[in-house]
Amino acid sequence: MQILVTGGAGYIGSHTVLSLLENNYDVIVYDNLVNSSIESLVRVEKLAGKSIEFIEGDICDKGKLSGVFKQFKINAVIHFAALKAVGESVKIPLSYYQNNVHGSVCLLEVMQEHKVHNFIFSSSATVYGEENDVPYVETMKFGTPSSPYGASKVMVERVMSDFAFSNEDFRGVTLRYFNPIGAHESGTIGEDPKGIPNNLLPYVAQVAVGKRHELSIFGDDYPTVDGSCERDYLHVMDLAQGHVAALNWLNCHSKFSGVEAFNLGTGNGISVFAIVKAFEQASNKIIPFEVSPRRVGDLPAFWANTSKANDELNWQANRSLDQMMVDTWRWQLNNPNGYQS
Ligand code: NAD
Ligand code: UD1
Repeated sequence: MQILVTGGAGYIGSHTVLSLLENNYDVIVYDNLVNSSIESLVRVEKLAGKSIEFIEGDICDKGKLSGVFKQFKINAVIHFAALKAVGESVKIPLSYYQNNVHGSVCLLEVMQEHKVHNFIFSSSATVYGEENDVPYVETMKFGTPSSPYGASKVMVERVMSDFAFSNEDFRGVTLRYFNPIGAHESGTIGEDPKGIPNNLLPYVAQVAVGKRHELSIFGDDYPTVDGSCERDYLHVMDLAQGHVAALNWLNCHSKFSGVEAFNLGTGNGISVFAIVKAFEQASNKIIPFEVSPRRVGDLPAFWANTSKANDELNWQANRSLDQMMVDTWRWQLNNPNGYQS
């Protein structure tokens, strides 16, 4: 069975491609490499002992995309390709809507043209916004995301629902990720942020390896266990396996049409201070930090209700916090300059 993976050279995409190959799916990656390196896929091929078809292209390029659907008999699309920096999305919102929303619409149009109906979308916990109480459940209404990036995820989920309403063949799954961290246990693939990392774990790892001076902890006065924000961190390999579970779910539900949403998280909230402590234990390094003001747009705490994914996808995030830290550290140590090293 051939799966088209847009954005498959990126962080979550590359780990998912590995899981797909390990589960005997054939993979075609379509990526414009705007935030990734082809080296990630070279390494995935080595780990899996299998080859990947790679096409460099933009999801907004419908002509090129259409050529891919002509060349391969694609059974399903897993759609990771997107811009994902929350702060940047506030500065250049039009690029985010163009890339994330218009790009997704282009992809769906080309899928429709080629009668490919199975679609798995990378959404985010950010769609619940600040209006909803934790834990977040799939039945909750969308909240107001705090950034154009978050809004782009809500918009694509809406596009999927409207498209499904108009087209009874469409079979969409939207996976709402909580906070993916960690790296493959081999230490050969992982997250390779360009420039100064925006997200917590890559920043902590770069402090540990001496690339950054100290961590800024954004606020210690939240109404949480220790005053810092709490998030639901999950191992990227568990997340990767969540995509395989979603594909299996689509395969097993041949009569399904419409859109189904699943939260992918652990169900536990962990504070920033607890992350720093866990990373120090795993790496045997001290992480110097200072407490700085709250970051605009951050919510105090959120985590997933994972019952639906556990019961219906038969999926669970099994890897421990310690393993997430150990694997992040191994990747950082072995690849201080990411895929450049
Ligand atoms: P990433 O930046 O590592 O991967 C995205 C990939 O998409 C990159 O390889 C990039 O080159 C490619 N890409 C971007 N725009 C493209 C375009 N127009 N055409 C073709 N390729 C394009 O990001 P990631 O962390 O792997 O995230 C994957 C998906 O998961 C994204 O949709 C992201 O919004 C979503 N997500 C990520 C997180 C997270 O914490 N990492 C959380 C929730 C949701
Ligand atoms: C954010 C986005 C989410 C997006 C994800 C990946 C929101 C509300 N969430 O998640 O949609 O999918 O990024 O791009 O916009 N922190 C520090 N110091 C740092 C970095 C982070 O203290 O240097 C703290 C943050 O305040 C937060 C926690 O660490 O409490 C996690 O931050 P981060 O890794 O950026 O993820 P989110 O903000 O949860």
